[in-house]
Amino acid sequence: MPDLENPFEETLLRRNRAEPCTVVIFGATGDLTHRKLIPALYNIAACGDLPPQFKVVGFARRDKSDDVFRTELETGNRKNSRQGHNDELWENFSHSIHYHRSEFEDLEGYRALGRLLDQFDEERGTPANRLFYLASAPEYFKPILELIREAGLNRGSGDKWARVVCEKPFGKDLQSARTLNEVVAGTFEEKDTYRIDHYLGKETAQNIMVLRFANALFEPNWNSRYIDHVQITCAENLGMEGGRGGYYDTAGALRDMVQNHLFQLLTLVAMEPPTDLSADSVRDEKVKVIRALRPLVGPEAVGANVIRAQYTAGSVDGVPRVGYRQEDRVNPESKTEAYVALRLFVDTWRWQGVPFYIRVGKQLPKKATEISVHFKKPPQVPFATAQLPGSSENTLVIRIQPDEGIALRILCKQPGQALSMQQVKMDFRYSSSFGKASPEAYERLLLDAMAGDATLFARRDEVENAWKFIDELEHAWHKTDTPPPMCEYPAGSWGPKEADELLAQDGRVWRLL
Ligand code: BG6
Repeated sequence: MPDLENPFEETLLRRNRAEPCTVVIFGATGDLTHRKLIPALYNIAACGDLPPQFKVVGFARRDKSDDVFRTELETGNRKNSRQGHNDELWENFSHSIHYHRSEFEDLEGYRALGRLLDQFDEERGTPANRLFYLASAPEYFKPILELIREAGLNRGSGDKWARVVCEKPFGKDLQSARTLNEVVAGTFEEKDTYRIDHYLGKETAQNIMVLRFANALFEPNWNSRYIDHVQITCAENLGMEGGRGGYYDTAGALRDMVQNHLFQLLTLVAMEPPTDLSADSVRDEKVKVIRALRPLVGPEAVGANVIRAQYTAGSVDGVPRVGYRQEDRVNPESKTEAYVALRLFVDTWRWQGVPFYIRVGKQLPKKATEISVHFKKPPQVPFATAQLPGSSENTLVIRIQPDEGIALRILCKQPGQALSMQQVKMDFRYSSSFGKASPEAYERLLLDAMAGDATLFARRDEVENAWKFIDELEHAWHKTDTPPPMCEYPAGSWGPKEADELLAQDGRVWRLL
């Protein structure tokens, strides 16, 4: 029996209540649809969680039939499906896929889409529930949203709903994010707007709240009295493969990863307990963290706390890699960072004086994302004469990916006559404890959007406050006379020496991953 007293259980139930609906994907011939969205929907189907009478319509500019579209998607699914590809299951699932050709700026195309959706609803006897997914290039978000409204497709009423999911990037600075938010708000209410941050859909990211608030053990220690500092690392061992250089060079690590994914992880670690698990209660607490970030204004403050860098030629896993400026579609004189490390402070009562060190970069030695919480050392009085290992602090490591899990490093006495100590690891691994792979982030997020649960999506004020902070850094780098330097690191190393020095100034080191 579900335990309705338990708020986590209640959220779970809400999630399983996705109603019949049609998902319309704008930009359906793009990479995201093939690599992530359709495989996610297929895997939701494979788990039996798709709402009944489900349909998905791809909206894009190229001419093609339903059959051709399905065959193309099948190829993508074979490559990218988490649970593999089953012909019979695909055959059933693929009947729910349709293609609608239209220009993004052609109102008639939206009216025709409306007629098609109505026809599906009539045939299936389903309510007109629609989830519009903006997966096109961001410059089309505006016309798409405006024409959805003009064609009257944005109106839910009574028991039918219309929602929009916006892919990242959600703006490139505060100004553009505000403008985009205005455009979205002109078509959809905030409660029907789902801004994707796929890091929030990752299983271990979701587990941070459970770890903190459903266990009595951690929360009493989760403050500046017991925590020395927190590190968040997101390392990637790829560069600009697949033609990504064109986009990336206009964004950089700060905009591409920190403003969204890394800040989301930071808020989950630093937030106060929400009063309940409703989307707004959770997001109210998260936005408070972003607003409490100590601003870094001007080249001096930015230079002292933020390190930016580009990789030079090197090798990752023995494979030679070119430098960032030599990458395909990257400006050979680029001033865009492929790595950034930050020292941040959350100015709240709980976190006073506790640094949060964040680093993210391309062409590092491995792909790994983790959060480590480093506890203060206890007074060593009774063990003053004991042999302590070099690293003796308690560390709680939350591995977001790969090898998702949580490890706690504690000191133990080594067996034997002498009192000498060693750090040991208590380790929980999702794969061995639960015996099954976690769903992909997009599976969870698509299902939540269909079920009307916005908890794992960014709210307007979260996005805008994050940009407000990031804008100051970008300003110091690109619009001042004395910008902080662009540092360098060889591809395949753990980043520039300046990032090590940032921690060394505080007597700390980056955790070895
Ligand atoms: C995307 C960024 O949002 O996240 C990419 O645009 C990055 O640059 C990717 O590679 C990382 O996601 P994941 O899930 O592979 O860690």
